[in-house]
Amino acid sequence: MTFNPFLARLQPYPFEKLKRLFADSQPNPAYAPISLGIGEPKHPTPEFIKQALTANMGGLASYPATAGSDALRASISSWMAKRYAIPAPDAASQILPVNGSREALFALAQTIINPQACQDGSPLILCPNPFYQIYEGAAYLSGAEPYFANADPARNFAPDYQSIPESVWKRVQLLYVCSPGNPTGAVLNLEDWKELFELSDRYGFVIAADECYSEIYFKEEAPLGSLQAAQLLGRSDYPRLITLSSLSKRSNVPGLRSGFVAGNAEIIKKFLLYRTYHGSAMSPMIQAASAIAWSDETHVQENRDKYIRKFAQITPMLEQVLDVKLPDAAFYLWAKVDHLNGISDTEFAKRLYEQYHVTVLPGSYLAREAHGVNPGQNRIRMALVAEVEECLEAAERIVAFCKDLQKAA
Ligand SMILES: Cc1ncc(COP(=O)(O)O)c(C=O)c1O
Repeated sequence: MTFNPFLARLQPYPFEKLKRLFADSQPNPAYAPISLGIGEPKHPTPEFIKQALTANMGGLASYPATAGSDALRASISSWMAKRYAIPAPDAASQILPVNGSREALFALAQTIINPQACQDGSPLILCPNPFYQIYEGAAYLSGAEPYFANADPARNFAPDYQSIPESVWKRVQLLYVCSPGNPTGAVLNLEDWKELFELSDRYGFVIAADECYSEIYFKEEAPLGSLQAAQLLGRSDYPRLITLSSLSKRSNVPGLRSGFVAGNAEIIKKFLLYRTYHGSAMSPMIQAASAIAWSDETHVQENRDKYIRKFAQITPMLEQVLDVKLPDAAFYLWAKVDHLNGISDTEFAKRLYEQYHVTVLPGSYLAREAHGVNPGQNRIRMALVAEVEECLEAAERIVAFCKDLQKAA
């Protein structure tokens, strides 16, 4: 048998690494387990979305089109127009439904990367670091190499793009950017987008903007979207720009597998061609429920309010002991821990699990060593996805754990 050699380059997922870290650990039986590890929404799915699914079972009798139904694309288009105050994207040529943003982030690289167009070695996919692991796998399996641009805490976790050498930029064919960011929660501003657009104009790479956390935010103003930034900067056809969004977090339906891509019509056209062969059309039931979900904002506001209340209670508690602050958006706290007696992120996660039965994710598992550092090292990610009571209990235990560490110092 032969296999695709690039498969051997895939790294275990952070949760597999965590399982190994905890393999010989015995959690304290005095405590019930609480996980802040996985970034999976846990607020309940709205009833009207469940009902829309069962009401549309008739859809099972036909093959769906890869381009999706007119109704779904129209619903997404009007959501985008309202949410981002932009002209409604053309539902026929600028929008495509996808089965969650994860598969689209992955598949997009297959559509964009052209190894033959790169004279000086493999093409590069520029990834933030820390980052969502799919970007790295997408790079390897498309025949590209990931190039990691380290998050700089002094720049609200944006990388210093200006420090990247010209020889690297010339090889970049695709750039992933995540705003609001996982795990940092940082949101790009108009200046950040301007810089990225100028680099894309100069070097010709495609920007894939992963915006699946866009609806969970804590400040008055909603996070700026990439297409919105493009419009504000007069880039009305979205040259070399595609955004990816999803219902998973917005509507608490990670199991629905429903998202969309939108932006430049030429990219969408090629992506549709690729997807037709890949066989990734969305089930008609899911399309119908998704169209309804995108057209309702009440449940989104209620969901956001829950996160706002939760973060308002938890962040000040953790601020007493951890280097942490309210993020711009998303549902993570990205905390530095090494001020506590020099403890590492893995040691922190392991001992917290053993002593207080709370799971958090070591930051180094979400990043790669690049340019001499792992920018996730000495940080932990806490996903505040459970209901507030459970998160409060977890925060109390984390505070007690950190105080134990301080006492031991
Ligand atoms: C940064 C980021 N992008 C994309 C996804 C994929 O989400 P989905 O496929 O549910 O849309 C996730 C999921 O956790 C994520 O954290």
